[in-house]
Amino acid sequence: MNVLSIVGARPQFVKAFPVSNALRPDHEEILVHTGQHYDAELSDVFFSELPIPEPDYNLGIGSGTHAEQTGTATMAIDETIRDHDPDAVVVYGDTNSTLAGALAAAKRDTTLVHIESGLRSGDRSMPEEINRILTDHAADLRCTPSRRADETLAAEGITDGVARTGDVMYDALLTVRERALAESTVLDRLGYADGEYVLATVHRAANTDDPTRLEAVATALGAAPLPVVFPAHPRTVDALKREGLYADLAAAVDLVDPVGYLDFVRLLDGAERVATDSGGVQKEAFYLETPCVTLRDRTEWVETVDAGWNVLVGADPAAIGAALEREFDPDPKAEPYGDGNAAAAIRSAIEEYC
Ligand code: UD1
Ligand code: UDP
Repeated sequence: MNVLSIVGARPQFVKAFPVSNALRPDHEEILVHTGQHYDAELSDVFFSELPIPEPDYNLGIGSGTHAEQTGTATMAIDETIRDHDPDAVVVYGDTNSTLAGALAAAKRDTTLVHIESGLRSGDRSMPEEINRILTDHAADLRCTPSRRADETLAAEGITDGVARTGDVMYDALLTVRERALAESTVLDRLGYADGEYVLATVHRAANTDDPTRLEAVATALGAAPLPVVFPAHPRTVDALKREGLYADLAAAVDLVDPVGYLDFVRLLDGAERVATDSGGVQKEAFYLETPCVTLRDRTEWVETVDAGWNVLVGADPAAIGAALEREFDPDPKAEPYGDGNAAAAIRSAIEEYC
């Protein structure tokens, strides 16, 4: 089989490496990086740290409006599909690179595979929600992480071409967790000990592009009951500076550059709480049993909330503060996203479909 895989943004490098490693012994894989993320700490660091092959192409699409990113990437991906004539095109998650890969592949004679299919937050104002819905409906084979995702697809009329494979981010985390504990020096570098800090990440458009929400989140993090380590996405740094919030926040919390995956997993493993609006971090917190305070009104990872490991607090400073202090009473047996062998299941599903 000849598979063309599309990545472009930070979480996709994490999701793709277990699948690349499962495919490559028996199949040919061309790895295409759209270039949506291009700063070293959002891109290169993952390729240097993780067992992921270097991309065969970097399409260099960079930043821009949603239409610019999606349009430019669609055209460039289409050329790579034309040149390689793959049996399958694999896209991950819900970014503009995902949608571009889906649009290009759906109109070529190939099989479109969507990994992390069937996720919905129920919030169509999120650009990611539009990307998920369109990609799921264009796909031929949909690899889902959970029963709920299967049910969501069925409710939208999709029952064929669905394979429940589990969550490939769980594979990724299990692969690096021990390494992160052994090799990462991030706690020493930053001067923290396990259980003595809150980890924070913020980059969702609903928070960065709404000054009221951004200020509320910054205020709440600045008043957290423990020191806060905040590896800040460049989009968030820009927004904080634009709104005049950067200096006060930098004085109140440890604002650092985004860190590599090993350091991030180490920070998340040792954190007393994580406050985040990320999708992937909610799941990783769940796997590492770090209580998660989600700075959003809705989530596509509902099972983490149902299991008691995650609480949705939006951008309300009082709710954020209370959630950072409250006890969590989780269900220790919950395993809604499989057992960490999703990559092998994805390979089998693609082999069977193609
Ligand atoms: C994108 C995804 C989001 C995902 C996130 C992962 C979409 C619509 N959004 O959001 O779903 O959760 O990646 O981190 O696809 N920038 C840099 N350097 C970079 C990349 C971006 O400085 O290497 C800055 C630019 O100012 C850019 C802004 O960040 O305009 C936003 O980047 P973009 O890729 O559009 O979206 P993300 O917020 O990263
Ligand atoms: N991550 C990282 N360094 C950071 C912040 C996040 O390696 O400083 C990793 C994190 O462990 C997860 C992924 O990036 O695997 C999540 O990406 P992000 O939150 O940007 O995107 P989302 O999951 O919301 O789409």
